Amino acid sequence: MNEKKFNVLKKNFFYIESYGCQMNISDNEIVISILLNNGFFLTENLKIANIILLNSCSIRSKVELAIKNRLQKLKYLKKEKPILFGILGCLSNSMKKNFLDNNLINFTIGPDSYKKIPSIIRLSMKGEKISHIFSSKKETYNNIKPFRKKNKITAFLSITRGCDNMCTFCIVPFTRGREISRDPYSIIKECETLYKKGFKEVTLLGQNVDSYVWFGSDGLKKRIYKKIYTENKKIIDFSKLLDLLAIEIPFMRIRFSTSNPHDMSNKVIEVISKHSNICKHIHLPVQSGSDKILKLMNRKYTRKQYLSLIQKIKSIIPECSISHDIMTGFCNEDEKDHQETISLMNEVKYNYGYMFSYSPRPGTYSYNKLKDNVPEFIKKKRLQEIIDLQRDHSIFQMKKYIGKIQEVLIEGESKKNNQYWYGKNTQNIVIVFPKKTYKIGETVFIKIMDYTSATLMGIGIEKK
Ligand code: 5AD
Ligand code: SF4
Repeated sequence: MNEKKFNVLKKNFFYIESYGCQMNISDNEIVISILLNNGFFLTENLKIANIILLNSCSIRSKVELAIKNRLQKLKYLKKEKPILFGILGCLSNSMKKNFLDNNLINFTIGPDSYKKIPSIIRLSMKGEKISHIFSSKKETYNNIKPFRKKNKITAFLSITRGCDNMCTFCIVPFTRGREISRDPYSIIKECETLYKKGFKEVTLLGQNVDSYVWFGSDGLKKRIYKKIYTENKKIIDFSKLLDLLAIEIPFMRIRFSTSNPHDMSNKVIEVISKHSNICKHIHLPVQSGSDKILKLMNRKYTRKQYLSLIQKIKSIIPECSISHDIMTGFCNEDEKDHQETISLMNEVKYNYGYMFSYSPRPGTYSYNKLKDNVPEFIKKKRLQEIIDLQRDHSIFQMKKYIGKIQEVLIEGESKKNNQYWYGKNTQNIVIVFPKKTYKIGETVFIKIMDYTSATLMGIGIEKK
């Protein structure tokens, strides 16, 4: 395509697709809002769009490959009309280089540069190829009202950006930069607005929500926090933020993700237990059950510490569900380490989890300094073993709900049967039940009659 033919004065429609985590979905809403406020129009139709944005993720090579394949599939559009392709979000170094050398791509924009999107698009329309990927010490987008689809009742809201943890396998600290917390008052205000608009549930997002911290001005980081913690009584940490939100918006369900075993405090567990509107579910990635591997991963906790945290959660909030992320086949993982992961899973019996096999990411410590020395077939075998074990544990946990009555917030129509609603209980378990006269957004009482490893099935009953 000849970029000069791009008609800058024409109505410009953008189409956006998102890959990866909830944070990317939340970022999409910020990007859409910025573009709508700058004269661009959103479309869900590729044929209409003259700007195509892919919000990328580089956490594992499989996800990166999926985006590259998607681009190849969309390539034909460029033959039909003048069209711009932009890659947003978490771009690994190899991705950045690859995309800049790629004739298909007009611009790449990192997660901290979204406010520049309108001007970058306009320059691209004139034929410039642009890459804007800088990490910011301040940007939290707290003055942007995210675009949220109408008639939805659950929303994501980012409370921190970036990560300071430096797990050796993880690309996030490089693609999303150092950790920044967002002004708590803007978070509370946004939650209040969401509630007034009819939202019934908000999920607070951060790579590590437990290290949320605010001292009264923009973008300060954990390092500084540690220095002045003892002197500054006005600090708002994650437990305080949860407490404030639960009190200010008492009828809003509050969820959060992701928790970090190293940073989760007793105070957080106590606040969750204290408020009925804070959901009783904690996503607590463990990654491995072996101390040797946890150390190589720089996870900063031991198996014993992790298990004692689980004990603490269970004793303070007995009804709390717990989910995990586990990675198999990390550098130097042997059969004994793998068995330690299995035994940890047997001890915790998680409600559900997300499981991956290690994929070395260029630029990370493990890529540079450690050997990816577990053969692919062993990684796969171990992954399958933990997936099968998790399935058994999920079934074990789901069985316990039979005959019990659950309070369910209705989110939408079941994908499998349009006569059924689906919703979630406080433990984040999906529950499906006949629609009756219920409506989306209502909280109803469901008696559980059946289960699969991922879903509970029941019938609505009258409130007692
Ligand atoms: N390879 C495989 N899995 C990874 N994760 C993060 N980085 C990698 C990697 N290089 C997984 C971790 C993390 C989740 C979001 O993705 O389990 O908790
Ligand atoms: Fe990555 Fe570790 Fe930060 Fe999670 S806590 S985003 S795994 S560096």
